[in-house]
Amino acid sequence: MDDDQAGTANLPEHVAKNRGYWDANADWWAAPGERAWRQDEPTWGVWGVPESDLHMLPADMTGMATVELGCGTGYVSSWMARRGARATGIDNSSEQLATAARWAREHAVDLTLVHGNAEATPFADDSFDFAISEYGASIWCDPFAWIPEAHRILKPGGRLVFLGFHPLVAVCDPPDGTATGDRLLNNYFELHKLDYSQVPADPGGVEFTLPLSGWFTLFAGTGFAVEGFLEPRAPAAATSTPFPVPPEWAKQWPSEQVWKLRKR
Ligand SMILES: C[S@@+](CC[C@H](N)C(=O)[O-])C[C@H]1O[C@@H](n2cnc3c(N)ncnc32)[C@H](O)[C@@H]1O
Repeated sequence: MDDDQAGTANLPEHVAKNRGYWDANADWWAAPGERAWRQDEPTWGVWGVPESDLHMLPADMTGMATVELGCGTGYVSSWMARRGARATGIDNSSEQLATAARWAREHAVDLTLVHGNAEATPFADDSFDFAISEYGASIWCDPFAWIPEAHRILKPGGRLVFLGFHPLVAVCDPPDGTATGDRLLNNYFELHKLDYSQVPADPGGVEFTLPLSGWFTLFAGTGFAVEGFLEPRAPAAATSTPFPVPPEWAKQWPSEQVWKLRKR
């Protein structure tokens, strides 16, 4: 495993905080990660929406240089490698990467894993054909840093696809960390940094999102064309989740967003 930034001294405060959070919680993610590693067909997000609905990945990725930004346990990169890609994953947590490296060895899948911050990667300009994030950089990194960084490391015409929670969830999340409700509690227009590290019931990390108009403006200003925007819906059969958004909520309102972008 390459180690881009061994210490936390030079990291932005939220990146250092999130490194501590993810290193401490990596054990919990090993089992769900392994289940996803065992899947031949990708499913996405909290609700396990099938690839045949979302079309996140090109069917044939033969020879493509890919990067997963906030790769965690690495299963998305494993799906891309099995489609023929030369897959690289970067993650801020050495513990998450240790799990990814373990499953890569056991499944005999060749991945390049890099320990570093997806807001400021060690990769050269124009390195990748395809970049992706599923609840990685897409929610844990500042969009004003990681979106321009993804643009820099993609080749001209390269694609960025990412999935994370929908801004409507952030508007409806109570400050005490309890379940997402049916009231508009938080300022939509000022959505950006969401610091859950002080939530007494369930201290989390520092997450980010923007109002939809903010995402559009950022993409246009960075040099990305929007090729697709999806709002995956929880399937009718969904009955539970370990996360704060109740299934009944996510059957009525969008709990997740998918953006499909191309570097101009
Ligand atoms: C929920 S996981 C998502 C990855 C994968 N889909 C999974 O579920 O295993 C979130 C990952 O984002 C990583 N992350 C958080 N901040 C990051 C940053 N600044 N740069 C790179 N990775 C980051 C965390 O370390 C964690 O492994």
